[in-house]
Amino acid sequence: MKVVSRRNFLSAAGTFAGLSLLPLAGCSKSSGEVVRIGFMLPYTGTYAKLGVAIENGFKLALNSLGEKPFGKTFEFFTVDDESNPAKATDNANKIMTRDNVDVVIGTVHSGVAMGMVKVAKETGTLVIIPNAGANAATGSACLPNVFRTSFSNWQPTHPLGRVMVQNGHKKSVFVTWKYGAGEETLASFREGYENAGGELVKELFVPFPNVEFQAILTEIASLKPDAVACFFAGGGAVKFVKDYAAAGLQGKIPLYGSGFLTEGVLEAQGASAEGIMTTLHYSDALQNPQNISFRESYESVFGEPADVYAVQGFDAGLLLIQALQATDGDLSQKDVAIKAMEGATIDSPRGRWKMSKSHNPIQDFYLRKVENGENKVIGTAWDALEDPGTGCSL
Ligand code: BEZ
Repeated sequence: MKVVSRRNFLSAAGTFAGLSLLPLAGCSKSSGEVVRIGFMLPYTGTYAKLGVAIENGFKLALNSLGEKPFGKTFEFFTVDDESNPAKATDNANKIMTRDNVDVVIGTVHSGVAMGMVKVAKETGTLVIIPNAGANAATGSACLPNVFRTSFSNWQPTHPLGRVMVQNGHKKSVFVTWKYGAGEETLASFREGYENAGGELVKELFVPFPNVEFQAILTEIASLKPDAVACFFAGGGAVKFVKDYAAAGLQGKIPLYGSGFLTEGVLEAQGASAEGIMTTLHYSDALQNPQNISFRESYESVFGEPADVYAVQGFDAGLLLIQALQATDGDLSQKDVAIKAMEGATIDSPRGRWKMSKSHNPIQDFYLRKVENGENKVIGTAWDALEDPGTGCSL
């Protein structure tokens, strides 16, 4: 990939119809001159930074197509889903029906994603999920028109239990926000940890998106487990890691997690993140040429370092490019677009990955440790991990 500067990116982005947010009355979809792309992402709340990184990464990928690709103008439509599942159906209807987009890129929160999948079933709109891990989205509720470029919640903590037992931590506690992603992450961890001979002595929950951790930190201190594993992301991950250190637990009870715990937040977490070990399908420190070039471009265009969310957005862009190439920019040829995405191999900054039959990435998971403010790769936790896609018959 060519490294682009902020100036080049912004001028090329202008050819995508200047990021217009206005629906065009009576406008048809991409069989005409316009490709209509919707972002349904969180732009406020604890996951706001994740939404922005996804949109940035996605646009960076599309930028590589140059000016007026396939002779089309690209129009963008945006809905802030606020990571609020109660508003998910309404928001999905706004973008899929009112804005009548060709494809939706969304979203971050598992509960909101399931609302999107429900509407995508009714409308047949193409959806690319660039983060939310809800297992059912590429499992029991899978659809031909829904793809994911991130992970299923089953994946990131599947290898974690084995790693912790290998590190000698036989009794642990799991802490998470109590909602779909946290519960599925915990279930996968429990399965892997118990299979490896570990004992999960306590499961502790905080309502999403609460960040009042004092009571559970007091409980952890009195339980004295060998280690703690957890699921938090975004603003909540910053607060949890800082509170864990402030409670005197850092360095005393080793802290593990799915890698979202230390993604895009290391600067804010500062010294309190040092030593945390996580499993994830990405690390800033990967030395493959795609990652080096991607990180350079992303930082020069957006003025801040890329993280896993930016990579997942970027890969959503690379996936859509395969559909655009197969249809010469005419996404109304849905069957052709779907076939292209089903057969996709993505040369990602995370390493090369393939789409599974149920439309979820088959990918490597890395073991990372925070050292000197960086997620260092200290090993591969699992090669080519494929979600079982339970209940999906695509
Ligand atoms: C989720 O809700 O699926 C999720 C949110 C943030 C990071 C990872 C997963």
